Amino acid sequence: EIKDMIGREVIDSRGNPTVEVEVITKGGGYGRAIVPSGASRGAHEAIELRDKEMRFGGKGVLLAVDNINSIIKPELIGFDSRMQREIDMLMKELDSTENKRKLGANAILAVSLAVAKAAADTASLPLYKYIGGCNSYVMPVPMMNILNGGVHGGNQLEFQEFMIMPVGADSISEAIRISSEVYHTLKKVILDKYGKDAINVGDEGGFAPPVKEIREALDLLERAVKLVGYEDKIVYAIDCAATEFYNREKDCYILQGKELSTDDLISLYREIVDEYNIVSIEDPLHEDDFEGFARITKELKGIQIVGDDLFVTNTERLREGIKKGAANALLLKVNQIGTLTEAIDAANLAFRSGYGVIVSHRSGESEDTTIADLSVALNTGQIKTGAPARGERTAKYNQLIRIEEELGCPKYAGKNFRCPF
Ligand code: PGA
Ligand code: ZN
Repeated sequence: EIKDMIGREVIDSRGNPTVEVEVITKGGGYGRAIVPSGASRGAHEAIELRDKEMRFGGKGVLLAVDNINSIIKPELIGFDSRMQREIDMLMKELDSTENKRKLGANAILAVSLAVAKAAADTASLPLYKYIGGCNSYVMPVPMMNILNGGVHGGNQLEFQEFMIMPVGADSISEAIRISSEVYHTLKKVILDKYGKDAINVGDEGGFAPPVKEIREALDLLERAVKLVGYEDKIVYAIDCAATEFYNREKDCYILQGKELSTDDLISLYREIVDEYNIVSIEDPLHEDDFEGFARITKELKGIQIVGDDLFVTNTERLREGIKKGAANALLLKVNQIGTLTEAIDAANLAFRSGYGVIVSHRSGESEDTTIADLSVALNTGQIKTGAPARGERTAKYNQLIRIEEELGCPKYAGKNFRCPF
């Protein structure tokens, strides 16, 4: 039974304010959660409530915190913390808007996650086991974003994320070691080629060298992997975040100053998929192009096409995508939809429809490790949580190492990352 709840304003990995909630149950359970925040947000995401006053440059979250303490809390005191769905649906009703803009998705999600953690603690269960039960045993392949572009890096590279996937590892801890070795080798490669100014890192811990060409970035990754001798263990993934370089007026994509049609862009993807060992492409086209997504999914057979800004973890948008054959994987970001229940519903719909699921962080993160547990709970087989650097990213990887140890001999998704069963 929920006894107390405290909402407060804390800061995230970019130094921006965000919402934290603590939940205490009568049974002595305690849960605390901090919500993340994206930079390349999809237009159809649930809304983060921001104060728009002078403090924190207009990004304060005191309104959201006040909604927790004065509106949500009085409704939830006395509720059984295990009634996750009822609690989440009640908050949805209290908000009453379609995108949670009234109470704020940041307020609602912080409560939703803290309630789950308090319930797990009350039952003396680790979070992944509380959510997933005894069937949770798959350790995800990390998609490590080791080279940053787009709105996450101070360079001219349009594609946002260049990731390595250590599918040939035997365990999550080995996957993390391999990725860390590649990461440090990449640092040397970048230092040799571009000098000391180029080894600073972007928002997600990856390097952000002054690279312009997509192939130049992929070459750097390949070079590092080869130098450290892991060609047989690593494949590549990219997140293009194409909405960010799509020009709506001209209905074209602008890459390196050149205007590209949807067909041109799909041809480029076909080329780089042939040239490099890329197995997964996220948001290759802009966020409303379901038809284009369906085409590229069909044309690049065998490649994982991931919908992030396209689906925004929303079952309605995912249902439309499934009907049209748009993409074949869902990027699952809890704060895009605003409650744990709705995020899990989206994952289950994806699984039932033969879509892969990737649990994902945001570029603005915190020390909160909920998503590490969630990836194991749902057996998604894939997690995207940045480079093996910066505390807010390593917090998730370190939690996965702990879970792996606790599970004894879990299964590492490896090459079967899309359907780990
Ligand atoms: P965001 O980026 O958190 O800045 O939205 C992550 C992504 O696009 O996957
Ligand atoms: Zn994305």
